[in-house]
Amino acid sequence: MSESHVKEKSPAESHAEVIVRMFPSDANPAGNVFGGEILKHIDMVAGIVAQRHAQSNAVTVCMDSVNFLKPVFVGNVLSLNARINYVHNSSMEIEVSAEAEDIVTGIRTTTGTAFVTFVALDKNGKPLHVPKLSLKTDEDRVKFEEGKIRMEERLKNRKK
Ligand SMILES: CC(C)(COP(=O)(O)OP(=O)(O)OC[C@H]1O[C@@H](n2cnc3c(N)ncnc32)[C@H](O)[C@@H]1OP(=O)(O)O)[C@@H](O)C(=O)NCCC(=O)NCCS
Repeated sequence: MSESHVKEKSPAESHAEVIVRMFPSDANPAGNVFGGEILKHIDMVAGIVAQRHAQSNAVTVCMDSVNFLKPVFVGNVLSLNARINYVHNSSMEIEVSAEAEDIVTGIRTTTGTAFVTFVALDKNGKPLHVPKLSLKTDEDRVKFEEGKIRMEERLKNRKK
């Protein structure tokens, strides 16, 4: 496996937030936004974090613990916040939280959460070592340990 040209990076260096408006084409006739539409944005923002961390191409290999906690409606402003929790060799766990804002009332609600695993790839499409995570805060350290446990669980259940 090729080495990364970057030694280490903190989670703060790759953090990303994406903000999108929900339109009628994103929803069912009752105005509820499709889960798949939200998943697309989750994958997209997690991919930005993974590629910022790896500074290479990176692809999704697993999405898990996807929870749609509250509905998202047409007209809502959806904010997706993503951070990297854990890295192994080429794999990275990214945590995403989605928040919907009713732009008239200003009320913001956490509507969804997910973990997305990405693998960094080199120019030949082979897994590439990613920079180590430089853990700067207590939150970084806790999330790293929790991410390690989840990754071990994921690999136990991995389909080959
Ligand atoms: C990414 C890909 C090249 C990896 O190939 P592979 O033969 O599985 O490679 P490996 O077995 O060496 O695994 C590489 C890394 O991926 C991790 N991985 C692979 N599948 C995983 C899964 N389901 N969950 C978590 N990690 C996984 C491995 O643990 C390993 O991590 P490490 O390097 O940190 O130890 C291959 O799985 C692939 O191309 N998948 C399709 C990705 C894609 O196109 N996604 C978009 C949606 S279609």
